[in-house]
Amino acid sequence: MAIERTLILIKPDGVQRALVGEIVNRFERTGMKIVGMKLMQMTPELASQHYKDHVGKGFYDGLVKFMTSSPLVALAIEGPKAVDNCRKLMGKTFCTDAVAGTIRGDFGISRGLNLVHGSDSPESAQRELGLFFQANELLEYSRAVDAWTQNDEDRG
Ligand code: RTP
Ligand code: MG
Repeated sequence: MAIERTLILIKPDGVQRALVGEIVNRFERTGMKIVGMKLMQMTPELASQHYKDHVGKGFYDGLVKFMTSSPLVALAIEGPKAVDNCRKLMGKTFCTDAVAGTIRGDFGISRGLNLVHGSDSPESAQRELGLFFQANELLEYSRAVDAWTQNDEDRG
């Protein structure tokens, strides 16, 4: 199965609400691997690159104001089908629509304050990872647990 990498952001509301550990755990406990991680402040310039497809939309200015208001945590996560798997764990865009058991469903109650970002395709992931991480900040390493989480061709 294709091993993918994806960009996850724990948005300013997640950091302010002290949910960083809880949200990292949601991804980590599946067996996916953290290959990059940093606390940083998003600049308006980075926001315009990251959200380039939303520039000019009605919600864009509010989105940038929110995303640049306070630090966020950027994560690079690796695993089988990581892009879709992370989106599944996050839940629907607006917390009001997200089902229980997802990050947005469990921890959010508003529309726009939705705690996390996850790339929506492998192509977006590659582009977005390049915006948030230098090549040498993305690490390659193996863990003993990988044999028990990522290799289902060799069961037992
Ligand atoms: P994200 O990019 O943050 O992972 O969220 P997403 O794919 O689920 O949603 P997307 O359509 O890419 O929108 C990016 C962020 O913009 C805000 N938004 N507001 N109509 C609205 O008011 C509206 N639409 C989108 C949300 O904060 C969303 O996460
Ligand atoms: Mg999106």
